[in-house]
Amino acid sequence: MSDSSTTHATTEPEDGSKRDFIFLATGATAAAGAAAIGWPLVAQMGKAADTLAAGSIEIDLSKIAVGQQLKMLWRGKPVFVRHRTKAEIETAENTDISDCPDPETDNERLVPDNNGNLRPEFLVMVGVCTHFGCVPVGEAGEFDGWYCPCHGSHYDTSGRIRKGPAPKNMEIPPYVFVNENVIKVG
Ligand code: FES
Repeated sequence: MSDSSTTHATTEPEDGSKRDFIFLATGATAAAGAAAIGWPLVAQMGKAADTLAAGSIEIDLSKIAVGQQLKMLWRGKPVFVRHRTKAEIETAENTDISDCPDPETDNERLVPDNNGNLRPEFLVMVGVCTHFGCVPVGEAGEFDGWYCPCHGSHYDTSGRIRKGPAPKNMEIPPYVFVNENVIKVG
């Protein structure tokens, strides 16, 4: 299906200098990069719930600056795509996972591109706390990853649960690289 459109984009200041972007996709496929330019179409928001159940979304990674996180809605769930900084990647890779409640290496949480290479700068995950489903806040918590304010779960820069009641790491959705800059989730 190709008659997709993106209906809503907004920014969410998390601190004085950084912004998240949210895009709610109404179609089976949505090009997030293109959507970044065009805000509008809020009038179509009502359609979103009907159409979100199915389909996949395409995300243009080249539109996400280092240190920024894109949020998209996919099948009714937020998907986070974070363009991680060098420091965030190093921290994620150098973590002793034997200390983690749900041990996974950072590499295990990445999907290789079409050349078989991992792209650790881009972390893609379902932005839902594995405790009771709240949406964690980015660049927060004791591990500088995500923090869920509902009951105090701390996730690291790989989205792994490190402290608090959540039992599992944030989920990695199924995705593939369409080309060097674009991934398709779903
Ligand atoms: S829902 Fe996130 S800590 Fe409970």
